[in-house]
Amino acid sequence: MDEKDIFILRKLYENEYISGEELASFLNISRMAINKRIKSLKALGYKIESARKKGYELVDKDIIRVWEIKDYIQSSNLFKEFIYLDEIDSTNTYVKQNQQHLENATVVYTERQTQGRGRLLRKWVDIEKGIKMSILLKLILFDLEKIVPLTLFTGLIINRVLRKYGVNSFIKWSNDIYLNGKKVCGILSELSGEVEGLGSIIIGIGINVNAESVPEDIKDIATTLKTETSQDFDRTRLIIDILSEFERELPNFDNYGFSYFRDEYKSFCLNFGKEILINGERMLCRDIGENGELVCEKDGEIIEISSGEVLMRF
Ligand code: BTN
Repeated sequence: MDEKDIFILRKLYENEYISGEELASFLNISRMAINKRIKSLKALGYKIESARKKGYELVDKDIIRVWEIKDYIQSSNLFKEFIYLDEIDSTNTYVKQNQQHLENATVVYTERQTQGRGRLLRKWVDIEKGIKMSILLKLILFDLEKIVPLTLFTGLIINRVLRKYGVNSFIKWSNDIYLNGKKVCGILSELSGEVEGLGSIIIGIGINVNAESVPEDIKDIATTLKTETSQDFDRTRLIIDILSEFERELPNFDNYGFSYFRDEYKSFCLNFGKEILINGERMLCRDIGENGELVCEKDGEIIEISSGEVLMRF
């Protein structure tokens, strides 16, 4: 999709009907060229119908309004670029492969992911009408220690935004967002291109938003915001709200670390105070540490865990 397609989508979104002639004259291209573009937009999945004498109509308005996100990015003090891709194997992989040419604080979004990746080498099932995006933070002097907390921080930001929308979401350590006992959002953070301590971190975010359901094989463990709330969410607003909350709070994370957010994290963490099964061992989750680690108790001994998978049902 290029700038002209985005312009056509914007006109379709903002008008009930718009004629091919009008679009052609706005863009200074032929009527035939408009036809061709409408055809390829339809092939991408946009539901566009044409009515005699009235023109084109965008029937399903649940689209990403790229122009609004770009406006936000322009006004942002952190984010520099928004790249919209119709389809890609994985936004994390795309960012990893193209990072030399990408600016710091670029956001890459895709509508369809053919090989989405999850944590622990799992795959991330592509669910329509969701959010699949990656944030590239470049040339940060890391501090490997900060990577895990940064991922927890991102989960907390998403949980906070969802709660502002009235969603009763919780965080499953380390950074899965749960709703009514099932996962609606996962985050995959990856380090890349480390040279003498300088490198990038890619934060991949997957949220199941407006799909009516998830595939049968993950129905017991995953869900969508729509399924649980019977509401449609404005995905464009959701993306902008997440990015702006991330931007607003990042200085606090930089200055004070995860501990600044620890109380809020604990109050929404599903595992805190519960018996859990982590990395195959049964323990009691006593606390969430200063850097977001799980502080567990097993046979009277305190054990700190900074990575792994908590099993909810055992
Ligand atoms: C998990 O819970 O296992 C993490 C899932 C992360 C999925 C997102 S979708 C956008 C980005 N690209 C990927 O391939 N994965 C992340």
